Amino acid sequence: MGQKIVILGTGGTIAGQSSSALDHTGYTAGQIGVNDLLAALPLESFGPGRFITEQVAQLDSKDMGFDVWVKLAQRVAHYLSQADVQAIVITHGTDTLEETAYFLHALLAPGKPVVLTCAMRPATALVPDGPQNMMDALALAVSPGAAGVSVVCAGAVYGPEDVQKVHPYRLNAFSGGDAGPMAYSGGDAGPMAYVEDGRVRLLRAWSTAPAGQVPAEALVTQLADAVWPRVEVVMSYAGADGLAVRALVDAGVRGLVVATTGNGTVHQDLEAALVLAMQQGVRVLRATRCTEGRMLPGADQHLPAAPGLNPVKARIALMLALMRSNQDSSRSIAAGV
Ligand code: SIN
Repeated sequence: MGQKIVILGTGGTIAGQSSSALDHTGYTAGQIGVNDLLAALPLESFGPGRFITEQVAQLDSKDMGFDVWVKLAQRVAHYLSQADVQAIVITHGTDTLEETAYFLHALLAPGKPVVLTCAMRPATALVPDGPQNMMDALALAVSPGAAGVSVVCAGAVYGPEDVQKVHPYRLNAFSGGDAGPMAYSGGDAGPMAYVEDGRVRLLRAWSTAPAGQVPAEALVTQLADAVWPRVEVVMSYAGADGLAVRALVDAGVRGLVVATTGNGTVHQDLEAALVLAMQQGVRVLRATRCTEGRMLPGADQHLPAAPGLNPVKARIALMLALMRSNQDSSRSIAAGV
């Protein structure tokens, strides 16, 4: 009997149900249990007794919250620490998939594969995409050398820092920006690998990162006890001023991420309010609104930057850093902040 593969269910369209097999948008996400999703797959080649399943949550991922993230991180950390577990596959909705992937990467930086997968059509569709995505995720999970958090959708594999949902309904809804060699050829730019006929073709290194000196389980224990600091995202655009920033500072926000124009630029009125917020003790980070590329240094010396992260991921990095600095100011949970 080979090593175990753990499948954690969290809901999403991959577990969605619709009253019509032709309805790709008017369905209810998070209805079908992870055991039933697995039972529909041809898994003979994996051999008997390979799978452990657990329903961690059953939700539409637009409603993802800190409680589910903590539970998911706890279960992932638990299974990662089991010697007989080879890999973890997580079924998830597409809407906040990039956030959960980055959260697990920034928190746990696992050495074993943690593969998130999803679907754009509900399980009841005439031609659902979820079963193939799950088969691809399982192929990746047992692929020699696979490591770290990754996202599999429509045959492409993305890294947790690069992946972003870029389309509301097409099957290949994700992009990795210009992270990969497909960057300038259009289509599904920036995957780190492809899954082709059950085999993984790797284009660049797996996304593992050192999690610092603290063992993953210790970090997760701290997280379970921590109060999540309020960090909000504000956006720079034509006519942006500091009204929202001042209101959020008055409301007691601990951190602000500004979704910037271009290479990290911020409207001067909004920037003035953010500089004032920093002087009042609020942590501020810039992250570009652009979906491709990464900010180059030097565009703004007043506000710190989170190059390589989109605004929602910069928010996660800042929340983790704030939680960590509450307990130990010499280290940061999330790298780069
Ligand atoms: C969700 O994010 O849970 C619903 C949308 C999807 O999975 O595509």
